[in-house]
Amino acid sequence: MAIREIVKVGDGILRQRSREVEAFDGRLESLLDDMLETMDRENGIGIAAVQVGILKRAAVIKNKDVLYELINPVIIIEDGAVVDGEGCLSVPGQRGDVERPKTLTVRAFDRNGVLKEHTVRDYTARAFCHEIDHMDGILFTDKLIEGRKKRGKVKKAR
Ligand code: CO
Repeated sequence: MAIREIVKVGDGILRQRSREVEAFDGRLESLLDDMLETMDRENGIGIAAVQVGILKRAAVIKNKDVLYELINPVIIIEDGAVVDGEGCLSVPGQRGDVERPKTLTVRAFDRNGVLKEHTVRDYTARAFCHEIDHMDGILFTDKLIEGRKKRGKVKKAR
């Protein structure tokens, strides 16, 4: 395993769409291991491959010692809405409120190419959405909500 350099905001690669993973091979395993090590060192709870400069639809998320590997993830069901604070290893020093679904069901492959279904909620659902956004070139700063109204339905601007 090895620490990789984290790409920071301003680098155009963060705005590109990542490509589907096609080969579940040793190269993918090394990538995922390195992403996990890099994320742990930065005390992150999630990291997408693009954040280490690799445009593949792969992310790792760790919450309360449960590790999720999301490869080619697809959101199947989302429900509810929660506004809460978010940050990103690629946007150091910035946090802000973003609305995310309260619960989420995602289908994704693991490193062995096994398709799994994950139903997650609250902070884990937030992390899933954040990382899946990275795969489409979206940063949390694109979705910031003004003010600090938390845990309620957000009024849409007219
Ligand atoms: Co991020």
